[in-house]
Amino acid sequence: MNRPGADQPLHTPRSRALGMHLVLMLVACLLASRLLVAHEVAPAADGSGTPWGADYFPNTLLTDQDGRQVHFFDDLIKGKVVVINFIFTSCSDSCPLETARLRQVQNLLGDRVGKDIFFYSISIDPLSDTPAVLKAYARRFKVGPGWQFLTGDFADVTELRHKLGLFIEGVDNGRNKDHNLSLIVGNQDTGRWMKASPFENPWILADQLANTLQNWKQPSIEQSYADAPQIRPPSSGEELFRTRCASCHSLGPQDGQGIGMRSIGPDLVGVTGRRDPAWLSRWIREPDRMLAERDPIATALFERFEKIPMPNLRLDENSAQAIIEFLREETDRQQTLAAQTQ
Ligand code: HEC
Repeated sequence: MNRPGADQPLHTPRSRALGMHLVLMLVACLLASRLLVAHEVAPAADGSGTPWGADYFPNTLLTDQDGRQVHFFDDLIKGKVVVINFIFTSCSDSCPLETARLRQVQNLLGDRVGKDIFFYSISIDPLSDTPAVLKAYARRFKVGPGWQFLTGDFADVTELRHKLGLFIEGVDNGRNKDHNLSLIVGNQDTGRWMKASPFENPWILADQLANTLQNWKQPSIEQSYADAPQIRPPSSGEELFRTRCASCHSLGPQDGQGIGMRSIGPDLVGVTGRRDPAWLSRWIREPDRMLAERDPIATALFERFEKIPMPNLRLDENSAQAIIEFLREETDRQQTLAAQTQ
């Protein structure tokens, strides 16, 4: 029943948690305003100097993908710079996108992850997401060390989401499409917490984690940040591709070099020539349904790409068309370049 695209609303009661992210804005505002007066706030009882210490955060008991038991405050966030998001592994839309994007951030940060920056993905579906399931999920996305996938008691995890501002009653229960705001990054020591979007440029997120949140302690990724591609005004198709697709798909052999990793899905140069236009447009809009219907191409690709389902990103026909147009232009551009250099 958890198969992607099984005929069920994307926001089942179990999965409704996903929709909640608006509240993060509120939290970010709240935290920002608290920040301004932070020096006036009495230090926490534990002496850490931040108003959000052990008396604010629950010390929730969680189990990671290797079966190790940890406590949320003491073991995971105390004195650390962290990224936290809530996922469930059977989620077919925003979670894979977020995981893929965070994996890019992890790659940019290199071996600092696990040393002075820590990644946590906490399941909101503890019944299905056992440590073994989380471990398999982490392996499929090729996440490196320093990133823990955690599960715990449902009520405890819900409380944690409340405390982190990643739960909102109305949105969680409804069918809100806004999945942008399910990440929080922060430095527990300084009490500086910020919302982040999974559509954020991975360089920016990496820069926040490596520099801004560290209080410029070790500006070690500035160099690579400067190597980020030049900004030029993108077409709407390119914009959509960069924000929705590029964390999983490269475009040609040069793409993603700065990040130096293999894509999660197939390279998309030439795909507009390889596939029927109607197939392509539908695939971009509702890959989950096509997989559920056992479309032969979709099924073969799914098997080849480690059974990571391409997410349904709720794009309409015009957006899909704009992306296809961009893919066609980019393919032409690269073919022309290749012909010139031969
Ligand atoms: C979370 C990762 C992820 C994201 C985000 C993603 N895809 Fe995919 N995509 C995949 C995977 C994995 C496959 C292979 C099929 C499968 O496993 O479902 C795939 C397959 C494809 C294919 C088929 C390629 C072929 O050879 O026929 C196309 C086209 C495609 N994706 C386009 C897109 C576009 C356009 C976007 C953005 C709107 C996008 N994808 C976003 C993971 C992703």
